[in-house]
Amino acid sequence: MNKQSVKDLGDEQLRGRRALVRVDFNVPLDASGHVGDDTRIRAALPTIELLLSRGARVILLSHLGRPKGKPESKYSLEPVSRRLADLLPGKRVCFVPSTDSDEAMKATHDEGTDVLLLENTRFLGGEETNDERLARSLAQLGDVFVNDAFGSAHRAHASTEGVARCLHPAVAGLLMEKELEYLGRAIANPQRPFVAVLGGAKISGKIDVIEQMLPKVDQMIIGGAMACTFFRAMGLETGKSLVEEDRVEMAKQLLSRAGDKLVLPSDARVAKSLDDPGSATDVQRDAIPADQAMFDIGPESAARFRALLESAKTVIWNGPMGVFETKPFHEGTEAVARGMEQATKNGCTTVVGGGDSAAAVTEMGLDTAMSHVSTGGGASLEFLEGRELPGVTALDDRA
Ligand code: 3PG
Repeated sequence: MNKQSVKDLGDEQLRGRRALVRVDFNVPLDASGHVGDDTRIRAALPTIELLLSRGARVILLSHLGRPKGKPESKYSLEPVSRRLADLLPGKRVCFVPSTDSDEAMKATHDEGTDVLLLENTRFLGGEETNDERLARSLAQLGDVFVNDAFGSAHRAHASTEGVARCLHPAVAGLLMEKELEYLGRAIANPQRPFVAVLGGAKISGKIDVIEQMLPKVDQMIIGGAMACTFFRAMGLETGKSLVEEDRVEMAKQLLSRAGDKLVLPSDARVAKSLDDPGSATDVQRDAIPADQAMFDIGPESAARFRALLESAKTVIWNGPMGVFETKPFHEGTEAVARGMEQATKNGCTTVVGGGDSAAAVTEMGLDTAMSHVSTGGGASLEFLEGRELPGVTALDDRA
């Protein structure tokens, strides 16, 4: 990584000083307002613990959900601060229900606090517009800036990009560094065979990733409803499956350009509707009934994909193979996860993009069986598309 890291900071920059850390605590809250999945909070702990061990006071900034520039109690970070306190036993964790305020500023100087979490940055009007005044004001809350919010690095917001331009040193946290290292190494210097697995509903959201990665990979496995647009491009009947009509031509071109690099399902698990999973059957891809839709890849494809993955040396996966939340349409996604689990055991580097595939892997209890599971959905996708991440670009370069 060509950016400075928190590990590069000297003791004089940290001891007794305020480290302003942007984290991504955009976590799901359950119906009673408690943190549902704390993966992103846990993922930030190494940076927080490192800063504390080096004598800094830690001031945390994060967004949660998508409030529109004003406070909404259901998006308060207060429940997150309670979970954070549980995860940092013995540390004095405090929460302040404001962000750009005298109250917040005063709290950053409170010597009785180890870790301070400020209220949701998206309660502030200038956050998403990357307002210069707000960025300067947030910069006053710390003496050094650490961006550990990989999941928000594709957003040029005041608390991600803006503040990094106003407060120096501005460095990457340990999670940010790890994410960029795994995703970057896989793309720039993959051990081969290098296999990409792409799934999800729509080609349109993945087209830039396909274009960017096709020249780099040895094979690109395509699953999910996205495969149906390719089936249509091959002239097959797709029944009631989701097909993006306006992408069929593009799929045709990709098929002719990619040759046998593109690996499509040979069979499909279909049903009349998602509400009737009991009617699911497996058919060859050229036999999808006109009144049915594909909701998962079929068992033949699942076994073939799994075998391909088990002999790979680098795998990047983004997007489920089917509607994995509804049984029996989870099996394709599970086969990919199992194939990657075995591949990791065989010494392969396996990287799971954030979002749905990360959620699926975590639900199966296989997150620790992968080399890396990204905490960034949109951010990892944009990274794989070869785009610049503004939250990273704004950090200080290595000398
Ligand atoms: C995410 O969950 O992908 C990040 O926290 C970014 O959230 P956003 O899409 O609301 O900007």
